[in-house]
Amino acid sequence: MISKTRILTGITTSGTPHLGNYVGAIRPAIAASRDADAESFYFLADYHALIKCDDPARIQRSTLEIAASWLACGLDPAKVYFYRQSDIREIPELTWMLTCVTAKGLLNRAHAYKAATDANRAQGEDADAGVTAGLYMYPALMAADILIFNANKVPVGRDQVQHIEMARDIGQRFNHLYGGEYFVLPEAAIEENVATLPGLDGRKMSKSYNNTIPLWLPAKELRKAILGIVTNSLAPGEAKNPDDSNIFSIYQAFASAEETAAMRQAYADGIGWGDAKQKLFERIDAELAPMRERYEALVAKPAEIEDILHAGAARTRALAGPFLDKLRYAAGLRDLRASAEKETKSAARSEKPALQPVVFREADAFAFKVLDAKRNVLKTQGGFADAKAAMAAARAAMEAVEAAQ
Ligand code: TRP
Repeated sequence: MISKTRILTGITTSGTPHLGNYVGAIRPAIAASRDADAESFYFLADYHALIKCDDPARIQRSTLEIAASWLACGLDPAKVYFYRQSDIREIPELTWMLTCVTAKGLLNRAHAYKAATDANRAQGEDADAGVTAGLYMYPALMAADILIFNANKVPVGRDQVQHIEMARDIGQRFNHLYGGEYFVLPEAAIEENVATLPGLDGRKMSKSYNNTIPLWLPAKELRKAILGIVTNSLAPGEAKNPDDSNIFSIYQAFASAEETAAMRQAYADGIGWGDAKQKLFERIDAELAPMRERYEALVAKPAEIEDILHAGAARTRALAGPFLDKLRYAAGLRDLRASAEKETKSAARSEKPALQPVVFREADAFAFKVLDAKRNVLKTQGGFADAKAAMAAARAAMEAVEAAQ
């Protein structure tokens, strides 16, 4: 049987879903989950939420709202793995095992950690002031989320790409140390044609900018929020540039190609901002209204959502449990009687290929190294556009080295 591509993504449960989440994550993920060649894993990343939120009620509420949103938008929990991270006990257990093979220097370079320490330094504070070990370990937890299911593709925003590269590094390190292809190395999937919505102020719609439009506002409030989006001061009758308009960008994310073309014409013909906003409201509301009704019904029944998550966790743990057993064994967390099998690390090692490719990031390009068994660098080269290209070149370089031996 040909195995399906595994797609996995997590949603941190620390807020209320907004239109940007819907367009950028929920809608494309649900569409992808209907692809028969893919196996999808969608989970509520509540352990990640603990890193930035210490309000228990908010985490619980956010978990409910996000779960209800995905279901209301059409996610079929029987066709995908839909679960809550903290229900999968294997994830924190694997996190520890990965922590033990993760270079501290790798974590030092994580963008979120660096941003926090840079900000502290700029203010003359101790670099680690207010930084928890949770924030520091974030990439190891995320690597465990991904590696425990051997996910192939991880759809994420650009800000998360580094975390996927770290998951690759960590997985590769584990494979190398314990001499086996335990983990599939995941790839970030950045959806180029998925829109990033502008928010109320024109910057990217994001909770951190406080410029979001909540996804499930009642129609009247949704209309009011849309009326509040900033525009330029061109009057009705004056031609407007759609490519320079937040209202148009959002419209485009909801409209068909024909509707978009018609709206483009309306801008050229000088549609007033009031009218453009009304049309935007109507278009969004047409898509959301039926889902909003389902959402309201779902959030009103937390017990049903809890049941769905429990069932999802049971199916998911059926995969994670046996795999974790294999990883525990690989690392030496074994039944004592198993020592009779004499499967030592050095024995496993001798069967491994002598050369190893390592892909890493440099300023704004990718590079590779080819290491020999003693981790000497045999060849290194940079300037690749993406990790895939660097890996392909590394493999070619390995073949050349082997041929020359
Ligand atoms: N860190 C991700 C975010 O903030 C959420 C997340 C947690 C995630 N674990 C993941 C995403 C695993 C993809 C895969 O958006």
